[in-house]
Amino acid sequence: MKKDLLTITDMTGDEIGELFELTEKIKRERGKSDFKPLSGKSIGLIFAKSSTRTRVSFEVGVTELGGNPLYLDQSKMQVGRGETVPDTAKVLSRFLHGIVIRTFAHKDVEELAANASIPVINALTDEYHPCQILTDLFTMREYCGKVEGLKLVFYGDGRSNIANSFVNAAKRIPFELVIAAPEEFRPREDFIRGYSNISWDPDPIRAGRDADFLYTDVWVSMGFEKESAERLKVFQPYQVNDAVVKVCKPTVKFMHCLPAHRGQEVSASVMDSPISIVFDEAENRLHTQKALMSMLIR
Ligand code: CP
Ligand code: NVA
Repeated sequence: MKKDLLTITDMTGDEIGELFELTEKIKRERGKSDFKPLSGKSIGLIFAKSSTRTRVSFEVGVTELGGNPLYLDQSKMQVGRGETVPDTAKVLSRFLHGIVIRTFAHKDVEELAANASIPVINALTDEYHPCQILTDLFTMREYCGKVEGLKLVFYGDGRSNIANSFVNAAKRIPFELVIAAPEEFRPREDFIRGYSNISWDPDPIRAGRDADFLYTDVWVSMGFEKESAERLKVFQPYQVNDAVVKVCKPTVKFMHCLPAHRGQEVSASVMDSPISIVFDEAENRLHTQKALMSMLIR
């Protein structure tokens, strides 16, 4: 049976472990091996939102695995003119061997996956960004040897695709996840209930105490531009800056999925400091997604 990746909870903890081992090998052997599991295969990359990292890492990743990537601008597809998602899924399944999709509503990706006979990978929806967070966990493991037991504090929108995917990750791997967010953007209670390793803290300094990793994301996610004024105000106290870094472990690292806005969610002094590992993190998108595609697309 085909397997999709719509959210991190589609994978077991063991499968995530397997993904990390394969990612490590693929990274080490990049350019040296003839590992071409996508040889003769075409992968559709549907994008309804902007992208730098995701688009480029998937296009390069498919090519390096021997496959043919097809970039598809969703606004130029017939689905934008009223063709149904199920019909689109059925047609694309006749041509392609896998679909990677970035769009708005998560339920559209669920509908696409339910009607496609080929694997579907979520490359970001309003609700989840699993490829990013799998990469982030891999990056944490590279720096610390393991993810288990580490403390990661996420600053900002506790209901964003990034925060939601970290919550899902902490449901699979026992690391400590603290979400530092204002009341109106705290993670939904029913979403985190029952997991003692996941908590919300409205106090940004208390949240950061003894953290191994600080993480933030844009205050205004794609599709939420209408809320910009309110968001820029309410998230102000949650900027990752030198005052936060001061209360963390001395070995703390700073992560960001990027793109970043210096002076908003992160100060330039942290973003451009030696504790920032954001470009290693960005590079790892390529290696993690190659491993993921080679596990899912057979
Ligand atoms: N982090 C991330 O998904 O970046 P892009 O929006 O550039 O793809
Ligand atoms: N939360 C951000 C992530 C960008 C990679 C957004 O959805 O715009």
